[in-house]
Amino acid sequence: MLEVAPHVRDLGSSGIREIVNLAEASSRDIARLEIGEPGFRAASHILDAGRVAATRSTGYTHSAGVLELREAIAAGLLRRYDWSVAPEDVIVAQGAGQGISAVLSALVQPGDQVLIPDPAWPNYRMLTRLFGAVPVPYRLRAEDGFLPDIDRIAALITPRTRAIVLNSPSNPTGAVFPRELVRRIVELAAARDVLVISDEVYDELIFDGEPAHAAGFGTDNVVSVFSFSKTYAMTGWRVGYVVAPRWLAPTLAHIQEPLLSCISAVSQAAALAAVSGPQDDVASMRSAYRVRREIATAMLEPVVPFRRPDGAFYAMVALAPGVDSRLAALDLVEAGVSVAPGSAFGDEASDQIRISLASPDDVLVTGIERLVAWMASTDRGLAMGALHQDSASHRRSITANRG
Ligand SMILES: Cc1ncc(COP(=O)(O)O)c(C=O)c1O
Repeated sequence: MLEVAPHVRDLGSSGIREIVNLAEASSRDIARLEIGEPGFRAASHILDAGRVAATRSTGYTHSAGVLELREAIAAGLLRRYDWSVAPEDVIVAQGAGQGISAVLSALVQPGDQVLIPDPAWPNYRMLTRLFGAVPVPYRLRAEDGFLPDIDRIAALITPRTRAIVLNSPSNPTGAVFPRELVRRIVELAAARDVLVISDEVYDELIFDGEPAHAAGFGTDNVVSVFSFSKTYAMTGWRVGYVVAPRWLAPTLAHIQEPLLSCISAVSQAAALAAVSGPQDDVASMRSAYRVRREIATAMLEPVVPFRRPDGAFYAMVALAPGVDSRLAALDLVEAGVSVAPGSAFGDEASDQIRISLASPDDVLVTGIERLVAWMASTDRGLAMGALHQDSASHRRSITANRG
């Protein structure tokens, strides 16, 4: 009988998508705070470059990306980090997600282990499983400022550990790892023959602290992953890139060929304009996100346990201990605000929710007002009942509670 491979069947799904679908299907006015979509248009010189490229005759490009773009990316890294990178070590990908997928496909064999933050962007876990490997979570606890404990990471490394994923600034927590911590993790990984996959897609969205720049501490066991999506508000263009050590870069370039031939030439032209053109919009979007961070902090800090994010455009909000964040998020849609349940990002934050600061100021304010009102009426979600309560009885308890 034909069937889907078991490890793919068990991939899991994104718990954010369930809320997106519900919010989109609803006829009510819902303040959308669940998704990490920059609420800005890309700068006009980026759009113009894409428009011009689309009207020219475009064809396939080099599978690792057009040389001019890889050179411009290398120049951008030199400008931002004083980091000298050869264009052949830059691999353009269909977004950071596809870049990470290429790295894992080059690295892991079935049964290998990949250390993944918990909470984290759900795709790390799904991609690891897609290649038959085992995601092993390392905890980022709210009480530790969502920073990892290096001893705990060391204890999780086994002979089957192939990679550790770092993500600073973090989705979903907004934490920015101190550089000293990044250095210690890179050195630990090097000593244990483990690759660091450093997801730095929010490196230009930092309010307090410094970019991880993990490759500054180890050039041979660090792959750095970047994206045009968040920095330039270009999510739909689907361009990101990977900077890999010399032992890995040619393999990644090779892998891109069977995977996707190449990234869209139109998108690469827009990305070239983004990285080599004026950077003013990057700074002004960062300022706008900073204002939103202040709005969220002023509204939430007096009401709930809330940690002001240092970077990215997300913040975690604690529900009452033990509350099932998925049930809470479903109920919040009915209360007029959509948020991402912490359970979508792993087990550690299953009684927290993530709000996105990417939404416009007025939507953010309305959404937080509704969230605060819901928190008051449900005792920070306690009316949801204990974890694992089934949805039907949850609904009954909510209805009863609200009278
Ligand atoms: C931490 C993290 N890495 C990677 C991505 C994916 O970025 P891209 O659009 O470049 O695939 C996201 C998107 O939300 C993200 O939050």
